[in-house]
Amino acid sequence: METMFLTDSKEDIQSAAKILQNGGLCAIPTETVYGLAANALDSDAVKEIFSAKGRPQDNPLIVHISDMSQLDSLVEEIPASAQKLMEAFWPGPLTIIMKRSANVPPEVSCGLSTVAIRFPAHPVAQKIIEACGFPLAAPSANRSGAPSPTTALHVIGDLNGRIDAIIDGGDCEVGLESTVVTVADGEVRLLRPGKITPEQIKAVTGSVQIDRNIKNKLDENAVVASPGMKYKHYAPDARIIIIKSDFEKFLGYVETHSDETTAVLCFDGEQNAVSSVPCICYGHEDDSSEQAQRLFSALHEINRAGYKTVYSRCPSEEGVGLAVYNRLIRAAGFEVIEL
Ligand code: TXA
Ligand code: MG
Repeated sequence: METMFLTDSKEDIQSAAKILQNGGLCAIPTETVYGLAANALDSDAVKEIFSAKGRPQDNPLIVHISDMSQLDSLVEEIPASAQKLMEAFWPGPLTIIMKRSANVPPEVSCGLSTVAIRFPAHPVAQKIIEACGFPLAAPSANRSGAPSPTTALHVIGDLNGRIDAIIDGGDCEVGLESTVVTVADGEVRLLRPGKITPEQIKAVTGSVQIDRNIKNKLDENAVVASPGMKYKHYAPDARIIIIKSDFEKFLGYVETHSDETTAVLCFDGEQNAVSSVPCICYGHEDDSSEQAQRLFSALHEINRAGYKTVYSRCPSEEGVGLAVYNRLIRAAGFEVIEL
């Protein structure tokens, strides 16, 4: 199929809404990453998302709303903790998993009794949902397993010819996918870290459990709370190896372990000290939000340049850094060298 390229003008948003109303697929900007949207209430449209992405059939989707009045018909109940989280962080980069109502087709949640809901802050995302008149199911708009898209160009690289349209809304501000919490089983549990940090959640709900899969590799046969966590993720074509050390030791290691296909993923300001191999920067060492914003672009750049091995500086795991670390360690297939 031919993919239409749309802007964020009023007319183009109407065109996108028409495509979605007819059961089509449209990539849309959000403040986190670009999403691949379809009518969340149309099970046939939802199935198309899975085939366009090559997404495993047991990895559920997030339902996006643009008005709190849409929520009641999507969930069975709204626990008090969820209510507090919505008041504090919606619209914004937080996804909340609650009990699914029968109005949501089982295909959205891959048959689970729960559903993930997000109210994005991006004005274009909000306008498209409003123009459609229904909520949108939207995973990140990348081929399954590849780094998530933070620009329309990233989406084109992955999905051109496989979806009906792409709306270009510029660069995504947050750069990593939303924080995912579940409140479906009585406690508040963090399943995927993002811009909204565990500390911020705890300040609102009083407590938050951190799922152990966030920092650790899953056992082969483990039952997971969030199916998305068991798949290979965010991986560029290169082998990425995280080096946990100070900068001096990092440099020493790179010098003795490089050839012409090697590059390094470094913090801003470090590039002048690296002379032997190409250097891609992903933000200042002490600025986790900047690293979050730039990490996926850096991974896309690694793909574009075709490096075979990339040694990466290790980000902080504090605050938003936990989300950066979570994505990078998956991109690296959990390969970490401590010096
Ligand atoms: O920022 C975001 O959340 C972006 C933008 C487009 O909104 N979307 C996104 O979707 O990241 P996706 O499909 O790439 O990630 C959704 C994650 C997956 O890890 C999935 O397993 C989990 O949320 N998830 C969705 N519904 C779930 C459910 N009912 N129970 C447990 N995990 C769920
Ligand atoms: Mg994704």
